[in-house]
Amino acid sequence: QEDIFRKVISHAKEYGYVFQSSEIYDGLSAVYDYAQNGAELKKNIREYWWKAMVQMNDNIVGIDSAIFMHPTVWKASGHVDAFNDPLIDNKDSKKRYRADVLVEDYTAKIEAKIEKEVAKAEKRFGDAFDKAEFLATNPRVLGYQEQITTILKRLGSSLEKEDLADVKLLIEELEIVCPLSGSKNWTDVKQFNLMFGTKIGASADSSMDLYLRPETAQGIFVNFLNVQKTGRMKIPFGIAQIGKAFRNEIVARQFIFRQREFEQMEMQFFIRPGSQKEWYETWKEKRMKWHLSLGLGQDNYRFHDHEKLAHYADAAADIEFRFPFGFKELEGIHSRTDFDLASHEKFSGKKLQYFDPELNESYVPYVVETSIGLDRMFLAVFSNSLMEEELENGSSRTVLKLPAVLAPNKAAILPLVKKDGLPELAHEILEDLKWDFNVVYDEKDAVGRRYRRQDANGTPFCITVDHQTLEDRTVTIRHRDTMEQQRVAIEDVKAIIHKEVDM
Ligand code: GAP
Repeated sequence: QEDIFRKVISHAKEYGYVFQSSEIYDGLSAVYDYAQNGAELKKNIREYWWKAMVQMNDNIVGIDSAIFMHPTVWKASGHVDAFNDPLIDNKDSKKRYRADVLVEDYTAKIEAKIEKEVAKAEKRFGDAFDKAEFLATNPRVLGYQEQITTILKRLGSSLEKEDLADVKLLIEELEIVCPLSGSKNWTDVKQFNLMFGTKIGASADSSMDLYLRPETAQGIFVNFLNVQKTGRMKIPFGIAQIGKAFRNEIVARQFIFRQREFEQMEMQFFIRPGSQKEWYETWKEKRMKWHLSLGLGQDNYRFHDHEKLAHYADAAADIEFRFPFGFKELEGIHSRTDFDLASHEKFSGKKLQYFDPELNESYVPYVVETSIGLDRMFLAVFSNSLMEEELENGSSRTVLKLPAVLAPNKAAILPLVKKDGLPELAHEILEDLKWDFNVVYDEKDAVGRRYRRQDANGTPFCITVDHQTLEDRTVTIRHRDTMEQQRVAIEDVKAIIHKEVDM
């Protein structure tokens, strides 16, 4: 698994998708830059989400609020008091850990033991092996699973009760039963606020302490009434937004999965109090459908219903994705009650109520939110698409099977040779196609190598211009995933590509 993940990271760099930020200065931890292909892929994911959420829903509108917000926003939202991670330091290695993630690392070790048991049994039973049954009945596996559940339950309840001493105790106990850090010398667990602070204003006495927003959601809540009134929106309705968020994450690893500067795609859906259960289920289902529409494989997704709820929620679930390092949170769906709006009413002294003409009464709406990290979605798409394929002739190829709608470049135009007027004709085709799609031109190396390069780049189509093209104005279209080649008229190329890549 680690090996696959390393390949994903190096492929992302080699093919111009993701670079480490400030690389010439040895980088900045947990901060990344999107390169020429990465920026396009990211833009396409953004658009795919925006179309599904805003364009296709009559009752959802989009906004773009500022990153800086009045500091009281973060008092009202609960972030100043409750947006903390529990930290623990290892006194020997001087390494700092997020206590809850460290505990999850121990449980991952136990999970690895389960996988070992599965592999052993698979070897023993061969074709007759039934994995599901084995997992449900094998006493040793059941024991391990029980262990994991007990550990996570204890972690959850200790954190909820703010019993940080017990979290430390748990880590010490785990270190004895499944050594991970090789050290028993820990500090106490302390809470650490994740918001980045900064200042606005020039002079010391007139400046004001600000935070970089840790979520985009609050920009929607504070604009709720403005949007409702100016857009004459009727409940139920939603407000969507895509934008940067910042968190001073302690566990700086897992590439773009957990960054200090990242992008969220969030939607708050404003509803009548009492209808939250129904809307929560509706949005869980709608969001899962959106994911499945990309064709990354149903088996790669699962819901994880939260037992431990954030300070604002009465129900919450994650959509988890099978990343190269296992199933992890990709998106959150939260029933946030009237927590945010009611709290902003209290702190601002302004009424944030909706007059419901059908009920003939005013109320603070309830909210169901869907929140997905754009960078995580990028990683899900990218890592799932990267494949090493054995070919019939015994050779292998690296191919990035990105969904065609998301691919940065839709086609590469390749003249078979660099003479006889083929480059000119290839350019003519390119000039026409570029009005509709991102297309690239490539004339360097043998055509087979160019195909491989485009495979690794994720380009769904290669269009080859050869001598026959001069005679009958046909080209070959090579399909990235099947490697099939079709002879088609130049004038049909656009429609063929449109059919595959249009959202
Ligand atoms: N408004 C609700 C909210 O912010 P969250 O679960 O803290 O909820 C939502 O974040 C999503 O944002 C996550 O599911 C994840 O995809 C993404 N996200 C959160 N922290 C991130 C980070 N440090 N780096 C990249 N993505 C992150």
